[in-house]
Amino acid sequence: MTTKNEKRRSQAWFGKQDRDGFVHRGWTKKDGHPHDSFDGRPVIGICNSGSEMVPCNSHFHELAEFVRRGVLEAGGFPLVFPVMSLGETQLRPTAMLFRNLASMDVEESIRGNPIDGVVLIMGCDKSTPALMMGAASCNLPTIGLSGGPMLNGKFRGKDIGSGTGVWMMSEMVRAGQMTQEEFTEAESCMNRSRGTCMTMGTASTMACVVEALGMSLPENAAIPASDTRRNRIAQMTGRRIVEMVREDLRMEKILTREAFENAIRVNAAVGGSTNAVIHLLAIAGRMGVELTLEDWDRIGSEMPCLLNLQPSGKYLMEDFYYAGGLPAVMREIAPTLHLNALTVNGKTIGDNIKDAPCYDREVIKTYDVPFKDRAGIAVLKGNLAPNGAVIKPSAASPSLLQHRGRAVVFESIEDFRTRIDDESLDIDETCVMVLKNCGPCGYPGMAEVGNMPLPPKVLRKGITDMVRISDARMSGTAYGTVVLHTSPEASVGGPLALVRDGDMIELDVPARRLHLDVSDAELERRRAQWVRPPSPERGYAKLYVDHVQQAHLGADLDFLVGSSGADVPRESH
Ligand code: FES
Ligand code: MG
Repeated sequence: MTTKNEKRRSQAWFGKQDRDGFVHRGWTKKDGHPHDSFDGRPVIGICNSGSEMVPCNSHFHELAEFVRRGVLEAGGFPLVFPVMSLGETQLRPTAMLFRNLASMDVEESIRGNPIDGVVLIMGCDKSTPALMMGAASCNLPTIGLSGGPMLNGKFRGKDIGSGTGVWMMSEMVRAGQMTQEEFTEAESCMNRSRGTCMTMGTASTMACVVEALGMSLPENAAIPASDTRRNRIAQMTGRRIVEMVREDLRMEKILTREAFENAIRVNAAVGGSTNAVIHLLAIAGRMGVELTLEDWDRIGSEMPCLLNLQPSGKYLMEDFYYAGGLPAVMREIAPTLHLNALTVNGKTIGDNIKDAPCYDREVIKTYDVPFKDRAGIAVLKGNLAPNGAVIKPSAASPSLLQHRGRAVVFESIEDFRTRIDDESLDIDETCVMVLKNCGPCGYPGMAEVGNMPLPPKVLRKGITDMVRISDARMSGTAYGTVVLHTSPEASVGGPLALVRDGDMIELDVPARRLHLDVSDAELERRRAQWVRPPSPERGYAKLYVDHVQQAHLGADLDFLVGSSGADVPRESH
């Protein structure tokens, strides 16, 4: 092979002719690999976040086989390795608590093994940022492959969307408009195929973000998991990573400031999840790219939303793919993008999208006549959120974007659940629901509980939205006038901790203002009485709470910020 191969990091294991070389090659040969597998060809780690505990990622073993095919075809040596898998639907107290832990698993698995290039197989919400963050810390040639969304949910003749349909139907049950039997039947109708949530929830959002960053092949985001074109793109991804190693096309050449700006604009254009804010800040932090919460507002908030998908609109990911997928959206917003940003296929974003067709203008609207105007994430500030809070105006009620109301305060999610159905609770639709202690340290892990269900007596009037404020996140499939990620959070003594029942709160999204109408002197008096809630005393949860950064910085662990590369560690024997 070429002389360049001697520099490949895998040769520090497989290229040695001594006792250590025997150990590294010999044990690997147990799986039947011939001796020439170790001759210096690119060794590709296929990082598999598949697990049966994560239903959205349970088909990844099959995808990994297609990636393997592609790697072999291109002359590489593929080795699949598992990493911690993060599922939204099972993992308690919240998958987000473990995003940073999984990212450490990914980072150390890559750096500690004979790997020259990496394929990241990602799906359920947190698995995507976790793998991207871990790989970014190593900066090897890396390519992303998403697991793909489920087919449209079909219930009694109608399409129903993941998550979004659950939030809607559970409120219908609480309002007496749907029976428990119908609700149970909907479970298997919504989730009838492999893949991730097929709304523009966090999984689909992050798949779009990965493609917009240039980290996957074009079309990766939207191909349904059950469509055989998903297997084909897996195979093409396997072929491509081998070439990327030969070209030494590392993550730092793709994940530039321009790429992140493109991703922020695309997130607005697809009506993406608020969770993308935190994940993108964390990925940028690993690359050493300067990106702030304020950038989200500056770069993205004026952007229109083009995509008519739930939770902001009507359609689902399967419709999105048939309409043309992400390249069709990016072509429409091309004037706003950095078209020279490089992508993993070796071409620029501009090259990749310039001829992208759109087959359905009901699903993908145009830049000139978009689905929603000024739809990007808005960043709010004020005495209630000195370091910022976020809201997704495209999923909110326009009439509530400027609202002043009386606070009804819940000290924890358990406190909320205990009291919200109580008919004697002093609350109406003009009130502002405030939830505390659900931030990074408070929950811990910043759970998706910010979209609090409304009280039944309000629902019965046919009202489906109220202003809600918390330091939590919300599911990307959720909707409503919901202020999230309030920083600093309540459990570290942020002003949110000081709100009391009856205080007046002012939300003014056009002015980007979140104001608690209580005097500074009174807030100081309350602060003196404030007691910090107890926090975890051992294990990963303690490590997390001791080191996690606040939401406006991306909620990464402070000691993981910054890239440390993939220098070959010292020999193990
Ligand atoms: Fe896994 Fe939505 S719960 S992608
Ligand atoms: Mg989620």
